Order: sequence, then C-alpha cells, then structure tokens
Amino acid sequence: MLEIVILAAGQGMRMHSLRPKVLHPVGGKSMLLHVLKTAANLSADRVHVVYGQGGDMVKAAVEDDSIHWCHQSERLGTGHAVLQAMPAIDIESTVLVLYADVPLIRMETLQNLILELGQSTLSLLSVKLENPSGYGRIVRDVHGLVQCIKEENDADVETRKINEVNTGILAARAKDLNRWLENLDNNNTQGEYYLTDCIARCAREGGRIHVAVSANPAEVMGVNDKLQLAKVERTYQLGRANAMMRQGVTLADPSRVDIRGDISVGQDVSLDINVILEGQVRLADNVTVGAHCILKNVDIGKDTEVRPFSAIENAVIGERCIIGPYARIRPETHLGNDVHIGNFVEVKKSTIDDNSKINHLSYIGDTQIGKRVNVGAGTITCNYDGASKHSTQIGDDVFIGSDTQLIAPIHIQEGSTLGAGSTITRDTPAHELTLSRSKQVTVPGWQRPGKKLKK
Ligand code: UD1
Ligand code: CA
Repeated sequence: MLEIVILAAGQGMRMHSLRPKVLHPVGGKSMLLHVLKTAANLSADRVHVVYGQGGDMVKAAVEDDSIHWCHQSERLGTGHAVLQAMPAIDIESTVLVLYADVPLIRMETLQNLILELGQSTLSLLSVKLENPSGYGRIVRDVHGLVQCIKEENDADVETRKINEVNTGILAARAKDLNRWLENLDNNNTQGEYYLTDCIARCAREGGRIHVAVSANPAEVMGVNDKLQLAKVERTYQLGRANAMMRQGVTLADPSRVDIRGDISVGQDVSLDINVILEGQVRLADNVTVGAHCILKNVDIGKDTEVRPFSAIENAVIGERCIIGPYARIRPETHLGNDVHIGNFVEVKKSTIDDNSKINHLSYIGDTQIGKRVNVGAGTITCNYDGASKHSTQIGDDVFIGSDTQLIAPIHIQEGSTLGAGSTITRDTPAHELTLSRSKQVTVPGWQRPGKKLKK
C-alpha cells in the first residue's frame, strides 16, 4: 500500500495574501492541485492532505471526496504535521511525504524514490544548490553516509557551507515513521517538531538511508513568496512550451507564450508572441494564432487564422475562418466554416453559419445568422431592452447595409437586403429591400456661421 501525505498547512506569511499559499496558481491551477495530480498519477491507495488556516477555502478549491483531510490546528512543525495524518495510515503502508508548495515535482522522480525504499529504510530527495541558504543541510559522515539534516537556523558556520540540501520529500514505512515521529522533540531554535529529525533517528538505529540527488533543481523549487512563485511559473511555462514544440507547434518565442490548461494541437499549428491559452483549447491542423491573443476554452477548426489582439472564450470555431485583428468572441458562440470576423467586432451567444462575414465594428448578440450573410460595418443587434435579452434571426444570403440597428426580437428573412443606416424594428420579408431612413434634404444657399475676427 502506498499512502501520500501532502503538507499544506503553511500560513504563507511571506505571500502577503488572504489566499492560503497552496491555492496560489501555477499555470492557472493551484499548487495543491498540481501536487494532487502528481499523487493521482502515482496511483496511491490514499492521499492525506494536512491543512491549517483557511482550510475551508482549501477544501472548497479541491472538491475531491477521495482525499483524507487532516486538520493541523497549531502549526508546530513539519514532523507534527505528518503526525496528524499517521492515525489514519495503515501500519503496513509505505508513506510518501510531499509539500504542496513544491508543485513541479515529477512523477518519475517520486517513483524512483519509492523504488529505492525496497533496499532502504528511508528514501530522501536532495538537491545541490549554489546558494543553499534557507534550506536544511544534508550532513554526511566521512564515508558519505547521511547522519542527519540540520536546519539553517540550527546549523553552525561549517554546516552552512554544505550545498546539498533537503527538498523535504521523503518516503518511509509507516511503522518506522510512527516510531520516529512519536519521540520527536522541539529543542531547536524554531521550537518546532521537525520531520527532518527522523533522518538522525533512522541513522542512529542503523537504518539504511538512500538519498536521491535531484538532477533537475527546477522540479524541487519551493514557493514561499511571490518572487519564487513567479520563478516556478516561468519554469513551468517553459516546460509546457518545450512540450508543445516537441509536438510540432511553431512558437515565435517559447518564453512568450502562457499555457493555463489542457491544450490539444494538430499539425503545423503556429503561435506568435504573447498568446495565452486557457482551459480546454483545441487547435486543429494549420491553425495560426497572431500576437497577443487570449483563447479560453475554444475549439478551432483547421486552417483558421486568428489575427493579433483577439480574445475568444467558450466558443467553437470552424475551418478556414479569419478572426480579428481585435475581435472579441464571447461565450456560447459557434462559427461555421469560412466565417470572417473582423476588427472591433464583438460576438456573444450567437451562431454564424458558413461563409458569412462581419468585418468591421459590430455587436452581434443572441443571434442566429445563416449562410453567406454580409453584415455591414457598424451594424448592431439591440438585444437588450433593459430587462430581458431578445434574439435576432438572420436568414441565408441576407445583406445588411452599414450602420444598421436590428431591434430584437426580430427576424430578417432570407435574401433580405437592408439599406444602410436603417433602424429595423419589424421582421423583414424575404428577397426584398427594406430600409428606414429619413429623407435627405438640401438647404439651398445656407451659410456656415463664421468666426468673428478679433480686433
Ligand atoms: C523544510 C525542511 C527543510 C527543507 C525545506 C525544503 C523541516 C523542518 N525543514 O523547511 O529541511 O530544506 O523544507 O523546502 O522540515 N507545514 C505544515 N505544518 C507545519 C509546518 C509546515 O503543514 O506545522 C508545511 C508547510 O505548509 C510547507 C511544508 O510543510 O508546505 C514545509 O514547511 P516550511 O515551514 O516551509 O519548512 P522550511 O522551513 O522551508
Ligand atoms: Ca518552505
């Protein structure tokens, strides 16, 4: 049996935030969820999360009934934190301790750690750092055997020179952990019950300690403040960008793309700089996304081009469409194939069928548009009367002149032509020209007022 204990009770004082530290996002997902996902991939029999302050917020953010939540009412140290989970852990289990503020830890690293426990009493993940300050140091004897971990605050000058540090992540058998943890004391500078003291205990009992030195310091980076959060975010993003490029995506600059969700891509997809992809995004073959676009929960068909500065959310877009520059496509929008949405066009909760075009400065909301419709510049659907939203229906082959207002609810029947500048308040008949326009007059001989000359 494998049981995982995730420590998440830290207050995160250095984050200066009302949000519990473990809920701060990396790649759009809380650090705790990252660690829980890794735990799930390890197929642990049980996952225990030790939480403290802001516990309700933490539980609400996770919503997973399979988790065993252990409350640590007082923050008495990492050893005390693990102890909160021990009563619920099967005595025959292997226990893996993870930290919710170390979100990038890889499953393979943890699998190795667990595997090594087969030949040892305790398996520990360390890392060599150029600047080890702040971390617990791995103290070895002359034969290289680990003796103990000394926390920075308890370490003398010589010990502080050791650059191999504790990542905090370890695996051991429940029965050993129980014995070590129950006898911990807090005779140290911080007055805390240290999990790291288990190492000295194990060594003293003659246990075999395996230390895996992480080959990849980036995956064991911890987050205590916003600077470290940003560092972890950049590392994570570069990893996502590299993975996309390995799948064949062309990135104008891998350091200027942000991925906050699950992305699936076809062949020959290319992303220009400063593109943000969020939620569930599917980009089919040959989709190109211009600079500074934000795509959230979108499905885009092949050969579609999204031009710069466009924002698209909760939408399904067909093949060979051209969107933007400066287009805004809001939730519940469906575009067919070969649809063009041009600059400064906002589309909300609307369906636009094949070969229709809305090229300039329009608002289309709660509307069904048929095939081959042309919507002139400046056309808007007046879908809201101050109390309710009303829908607009536009049939196939309709031509709408520029600067037209369509007062919903309304039905523009197929083949209608609407004259430019019209305010359309009633349904229009098929294949006819409809317009509402005041007569043009010319005032003969009218003089523009002139400015008085100053003396
Ligand atoms: C800890 C280790 C240190 C290691 C470092 C790696 C100890 C004593 N020290 O130090 O050797 O180099 O991590 O990042 O273990 N937590 C609780 N309850 C508590 C105290 C802590 O849940 O009572 C949680 C925190 O939320 C955090 C983790 O345990 O996720 C580590 O605690 P923290 O106080 O950050 O330990 P460090 O001083 O960083
Ligand atoms: Ca820490």
